[in-house]
Amino acid sequence: MEDRIVSQSLLNEDNDVEYSLRPNNLKEYIGQDKVKEKLDIFIKAAKLRNEALDHVLLYGPPGLGKTTMANIIANEMGGNLKVTSGPAIERAGDLAAILTSLNDYDVLFIDEIHRLNRNIEEILYPAMEDYAIDIVIGKGAAAKSIRLDLPKFTLIGATTRVGLLSAPLRDRFGVLNAMEYYNHDELQYIVSRSSSILNAKMTESAAYEIARRSRGTPRIANRILKRVRDYCDIKCNGLIDKDSAKAALDLLEIDKEGLDIIDLKILNAVIDNFSGGPVGIETLSYFIGEELDTIQDVYEPYLLQKGYIVRLPRGRKATKKAYEHLGRNFCEES
Ligand SMILES: Nc1ncnc2c1ncn2[C@@H]1O[C@H](COP(=O)(O)OP(=O)(O)O)[C@@H](O)[C@H]1O
Ligand SMILES: [Mg+2]
Repeated sequence: MEDRIVSQSLLNEDNDVEYSLRPNNLKEYIGQDKVKEKLDIFIKAAKLRNEALDHVLLYGPPGLGKTTMANIIANEMGGNLKVTSGPAIERAGDLAAILTSLNDYDVLFIDEIHRLNRNIEEILYPAMEDYAIDIVIGKGAAAKSIRLDLPKFTLIGATTRVGLLSAPLRDRFGVLNAMEYYNHDELQYIVSRSSSILNAKMTESAAYEIARRSRGTPRIANRILKRVRDYCDIKCNGLIDKDSAKAALDLLEIDKEGLDIIDLKILNAVIDNFSGGPVGIETLSYFIGEELDTIQDVYEPYLLQKGYIVRLPRGRKATKKAYEHLGRNFCEES
């Protein structure tokens, strides 16, 4: 079920274009103005002083451009990018090997850094603070610890769950950046840019139509764009205009606010079967026929974020906005 078109996570089908659609420098990177402005200054200052950029933590939901930003920072710093992830580093030696292979001004990107094992994490502390690691040689009484100097590198950590990061690790990042959802204009720009890279002819209003249904997420916008392009290649001689974009999106069952059939199923269930709620999440998950965790982690966040439902002590409740979206009468409780 996580394969739905409006999934924020990376799907197999994204891989073919994800790379070519990635902006390569800060100028091409649309939106996230606060993050960009800060980084632009810090990068320039670091280069001026011939220092490595301070360690950067990027956090926020999937598909908002964290990996893309890490690539851009490495480009702008003129260093190489080494990519790994929290769960991929199984032993302390793995991390030591990666760290000692870096050069000055390189960027080490650790995705899903909240999943890094705690004993491995401790190796990062001196690496981040002093550009050094402590290695233990030998065993038992003969064991001794030696300190190895590392090059001046930048660690970029990315996480969707910043709350799970340990305080000592979080405190060692000099730059903490929260990634925000994108507004319609920014997404329209991203869709237009992507369509020209993909050689798809598209009107501005069609780009806007895709943008508004993309749930604030560039990854979803690019994915929808590909599907709409397929539709238009067959149905409308290649030109994607507003009407054909709409027709394609209707066929894909993504409505004008980016809700798909599962979102609508949840909202309809809360309203029709539980008088608008509050309904307990267990009851709802049983009723919808989806795992409780899936509802909580995958379906619910967007509905909560957009204010279609609210979370109350006794369960989930549909809001006026949900009723209006479904064309129902909303009666305020007395
Ligand atoms: N600011 C942006 N401008 C243009 N395209 C973007 C931007 N952010 C993300 N994208 C697109 O969305 C896709 C997913 O972004 P990614 O960096 O992989 O997200 P994350 O790492 O946060 O999950 C990228 O391939 C890129 O094409
Ligand atoms: Mg990523």
